[in-house]
Amino acid sequence: MTVPVLTIDGPSGAGKGTVSRAVAAKLGWHYLDSGALYRALALAAQKQAINLQDQTSLAEVAQTMSLEFICASQVSVMLDGEEITRQLGLESTGNAASIVAALPAVRQALLQKQKDFKRLPGLVADGRDMGTVVFPEARTKVFLTASAIKRAERRYKQLKEKGIDANLTLLAKEIEDRDRRDSERKIAPLAMAADAIFIDSSDMTQDAVIQEVLSLIR
Ligand code: C5P
Repeated sequence: MTVPVLTIDGPSGAGKGTVSRAVAAKLGWHYLDSGALYRALALAAQKQAINLQDQTSLAEVAQTMSLEFICASQVSVMLDGEEITRQLGLESTGNAASIVAALPAVRQALLQKQKDFKRLPGLVADGRDMGTVVFPEARTKVFLTASAIKRAERRYKQLKEKGIDANLTLLAKEIEDRDRRDSERKIAPLAMAADAIFIDSSDMTQDAVIQEVLSLIR
């Protein structure tokens, strides 16, 4: 039986995580936060003092690391038995993730782990290359974006809510740098799949985006 897959790709801070989680919960489907895999790898590398350019060692860690998503009222993430949920959400972890994510051997090592999330009754997959590389066969593909300033503002609010200190100007600059690195890399760059539906959420409420995505599935 074919497993239905909905992919939601887009730049950082576009609201993909919130929208994907809400849509997955509504449909009763599994959820893949592919960015968490790259973030966890960056953390594992930092813990083991591995250089973020050391492709061979990073690919090895990517293959051997044990990553567990525990879904209760909130998702907790365990890396090799240690809870890393808070560290995973840090901006510095996202930036380190985007450095390791540019390495072909790392992407290759994480490919099968991501594909394994595809299980019945369905999957919502959130990332940068879900519709283009990991699940090109997906039935429904969305490219979700928002203006850079709106994304920086949302990220600022999210971090503040989590009690993490943030600076809006610095965040905007980091988002711009990350967009550039993710879009210009040679392998699996952030790009809209030819058969994806484009949604600009700059002037939409989160709920409106969720409803629009759900209407595409139904
Ligand atoms: O989505 P998130 O901010 O958690 O992703 C962190 C970084 O991981 C991104 O900036 C990107 O470089 C990388 N990433 C990727 N491909 C994905 C998901 C994330 O390259 N499918």
